[in-house]
Amino acid sequence: MTENFVFSGHDTVALAQKYGTPLYVMSEDILRANINRIKDAFESAGAVYDVNYAGKTFLNMGMCRIIESEGISLDVASGGELYTAVKSGFNPARICFHGSNKNQAELEMALGYKVGRIVIDSEWELERLQLLTEELEQPVKVLFRVSPGIEAHTHELIQTGKLDSKFGLPLSQAREIIGRTKEMNYVETAGIHCHIGSQIADEKPFLLASEVMLDLYKALLSDGLNLTEINLGGGFGIPYLKEDPSFDVTSYIPKMVDHMREMAEQREVPMPKIVVEPGRSVAAPAGITLYTVGTVKEIPGLKKYVSVDGGMADNPRPALYGADYDAVICNKPQDEALMEEVTVSGKACETDTLIKSIKLPSPQSGDTLAVLHTGAYNYSMASNYNRFRRPAVILLKGDQSAVLVERESFEDLVKNDRIPSWLED
Ligand SMILES: Cc1ncc(COP(=O)(O)O)c(C=O)c1O
Repeated sequence: MTENFVFSGHDTVALAQKYGTPLYVMSEDILRANINRIKDAFESAGAVYDVNYAGKTFLNMGMCRIIESEGISLDVASGGELYTAVKSGFNPARICFHGSNKNQAELEMALGYKVGRIVIDSEWELERLQLLTEELEQPVKVLFRVSPGIEAHTHELIQTGKLDSKFGLPLSQAREIIGRTKEMNYVETAGIHCHIGSQIADEKPFLLASEVMLDLYKALLSDGLNLTEINLGGGFGIPYLKEDPSFDVTSYIPKMVDHMREMAEQREVPMPKIVVEPGRSVAAPAGITLYTVGTVKEIPGLKKYVSVDGGMADNPRPALYGADYDAVICNKPQDEALMEEVTVSGKACETDTLIKSIKLPSPQSGDTLAVLHTGAYNYSMASNYNRFRRPAVILLKGDQSAVLVERESFEDLVKNDRIPSWLED
């Protein structure tokens, strides 16, 4: 039995040796368990439902296969995410196409692939889609994203449901704009959508949003629209640190379904199909990132910097949102006597702090360090800053491990570079 830190049944030091660092490690077993927790909660509530996994969180062809095999749907938010899904063999009828500024080519692509739903984000987009569908004589089912005016307690940059937001139709205009589809030949309103933000730990804003959405649903039904579904977006928070509150989907989902049943009854409207779009709660706890410790710098009387061989290029969230992470040294026991307070930094030419303050057991050059809960918005937000190569992603399933995405090579970094004629010798 190994003394090393074990993730999803695997010795993390052995994984770092086998695949190199920095390394994204994803557990298929944890991903599936997280998806099934949500499906089971809906089943136990007896709801008509669907789960759209939010692809922006973590997406590649292998991940699409996992989502497809779970029988759930996929939310994509760009031509690139859509292409990835279709290329993996994902059924387009189960794809919901999002984006606050889809361009003409993306709308054409979505129609070309016959995606199941397009989520219209603006009046402009509705006009575009009407023209396109008329031209192609092709029907399309749409949802309308509205901003329900709910302020969720989360980081300002990931609050998306308040009135002052670039996303969605303002509630005050939604009824009139959505009503226009009654006169359209090919654009069919299947439902309405909202996403109030991400990393939300409290149930209240979700329940409030569901009420606002049901009011709009009722108004649209009374206007003669034939909609049947309400998509409440994603946003379920996860505990990045031990002391963080955790959002319990198992208790929340039946509560939300009951609440909506009651509200639908009060409003004398049929209970809609409920759709959720979880991303972080599915993927974040299913991933860790392994690094090798390099420079350890002690500033006497001030602090110790522990630098790892990755950083803001593979995990921009601390720099972007001040996000907190927990970490462990994989090759050492969590021995209290060895604990020192340190700052974990990346190797970019920026201050590049990954973890501002954490207790680790006397970190030294050569140690393997795991940052925990990095499965969401890390790989998908990674960049090539400093011309770092994006790390490999590996997938664990039971006792197996395999590469899901290859580590970029130096050649990959220059493959799209061109030298204009006047710069040639
Ligand atoms: C429209 C939409 N749905 C779902 C999600 C997923 O949210 P989360 O990862 O918080 O579950 C997002 C995230 O930004 C989103 O914009």
